Amino acid sequence: MVIKSLKLIDFRNYENIDFTFNPGINFIYGKNGQGKTNLIESLYLTTHLKSFRTSKISDLCAFSKKISTVQTSLLKQNVHHDVRITLHENLKRVLHNQKSVNYTSEYIKNFLSLLFSPDQLVAFKEFPLERRNFIDRILFRVDEKYFQRIKEFNRIRKQKNVLLRNRNKKEISVWNQLIAFVIPEIVNSREWIVKKINGVLAEIFCALTGRNISLEFYYGSDLKGKTDNSPESILRYLAEKLDQEIGNGYCLFGPHKDNFWMTLDGKKDRQTFSQGEYRVAYLSLQLAMNQIISSELGFKPILLLDDIFSELDDIICEKTVSYIIQSDNQVFITSTTIPERFKEIENTICIHAGKLSTV
Ligand SMILES: Nc1ncnc2c1ncn2[C@@H]1O[C@H](COP(=O)(O)OP(=O)(O)OP(=O)(O)O)[C@@H](O)[C@H]1O
Ligand SMILES: [Mg+2]
Repeated sequence: MVIKSLKLIDFRNYENIDFTFNPGINFIYGKNGQGKTNLIESLYLTTHLKSFRTSKISDLCAFSKKISTVQTSLLKQNVHHDVRITLHENLKRVLHNQKSVNYTSEYIKNFLSLLFSPDQLVAFKEFPLERRNFIDRILFRVDEKYFQRIKEFNRIRKQKNVLLRNRNKKEISVWNQLIAFVIPEIVNSREWIVKKINGVLAEIFCALTGRNISLEFYYGSDLKGKTDNSPESILRYLAEKLDQEIGNGYCLFGPHKDNFWMTLDGKKDRQTFSQGEYRVAYLSLQLAMNQIISSELGFKPILLLDDIFSELDDIICEKTVSYIIQSDNQVFITSTTIPERFKEIENTICIHAGKLSTV
């Protein structure tokens, strides 16, 4: 898929821009504080209907303005889409091909962008919740039923938490039966995607770094080693742990406690990866997702790569650019580094004080 053009009015530090992008690489160059991340944020908003930096819509409006507009023209599998997002105080109104969008979950099935941003990298490194969200965002797209299962799991867990706090043992057993049927399906989907990721991850990491060491992605299911993945065993396990859960007043076991991590030649990420290694491993993971989406859904997501080059050595930067160019996605790369460094890059956009120009 391709974002053909973008209009921004009073969005962050953009007063009024109307810009046409290249369907391949868009290398966006600018000094600190000029609007590179703001631009990436507006493109992410178009595909995910939320920001990756704030949950407050009003933060997106230019200072001292009340209304902001993000308007895009997109092309996906030869079909044109017009999207207009109006942000007004804390309300967001979305028009997709002139029709009002009422359900975000319906809208986001249409489009997908994969984001690399320094802030998301930190969150991914620090919080298991962020790693689960990362996996879930992709599974929602490639496995139709997965979204329903997670919704169901969260609904049951919420109800069970209330009952645990009220120490209502009899009713909890009923909800345990329901949850024991949903859990195996969530675990199976997560195992499936991790297997898919590992089918391509090591090769991508080698291509980006030139290093012949193996990068692997691991899934640590919370229930692994405690019970097998059948509803009967899970139910038995939860019954055994009932008093412990009542003591704590909330659900202690299940996919909401799952974790994911990476290893390089068998060594675990947080304990051993250098800053640059973590960065390029995370980028490899995003590019693995890109391949999975392309083969499962038949279209190429947009790659939003904000500030990828800092902390990476020259060899990795050059190999990354070569890899991205041959990936055939529409890509937005932002950098404070001068584009002349990368001979393969042809389309350069310069950002200065919220204004874009082609170089
Ligand atoms: N709501 C807003 N209204 C107006 N300006 C804003 C708003 N929010 C942020 N800004 C300003 O936009 C400017 C550009 O921010 P942005 O994060 O896009 O910079 P950047 O080009 O990515 O810089 P860096 O290279 O340091 O990451 C900043 O100076 C910031 O103060
Ligand atoms: Mg930035």
